[in-house]
Amino acid sequence: MNSIQTDKKKIRLLFVCLGNICRSPAAEGIMKRIVDKNELQDIIEVDSAGTSGWHEGDLPDERMRVHGDARGYDFSSKARKFRKTDFDQFDYIIVMDDDNYNNVKSLASSSEQVKKIRMMTEFLVQNAHHKYIPDPYYGDSSGFELVLDLLEDANEGLLQAIKKKYSL
Ligand code: 4NP
Repeated sequence: MNSIQTDKKKIRLLFVCLGNICRSPAAEGIMKRIVDKNELQDIIEVDSAGTSGWHEGDLPDERMRVHGDARGYDFSSKARKFRKTDFDQFDYIIVMDDDNYNNVKSLASSSEQVKKIRMMTEFLVQNAHHKYIPDPYYGDSSGFELVLDLLEDANEGLLQAIKKKYSL
């Protein structure tokens, strides 16, 4: 790593869902792998949070870990609650559904902060007809597979959008 890269401002991404144990930790793990594959780990940082603090400190849901493992991912981040200071720390706050959007937006204190909130589905390429990432918590294994399919697609699209915007 040279000094120019060290000094460069990092691009910080925060994925947000309700519990931070299914969708957003999976989005975080998938994006981390894409970032590594593209050798952008010195430039792009990734984290996740939940609008609720119900599962604070927990590992991702066992079912999501098993489904992720089958695709070669290791989802192992600990759940935390979204906080107002995240608006200052992150460049993109990427939510999974409309409830997440409204909950995060209710904590914003400026239009600049609101502009940081983006729907994950905005970045879908192959599955652009989906308007939200469905909560798999109360469903069966097909819901977890669908979430992973959508998150892989959207994260590839998100990386392309970031590369274009920041000329990476
Ligand atoms: P997530 O899924 O928002 O994708 O992490 C959920 C996790 C837990 C609950 C709901 C959704 N819950 O009701 O505890």
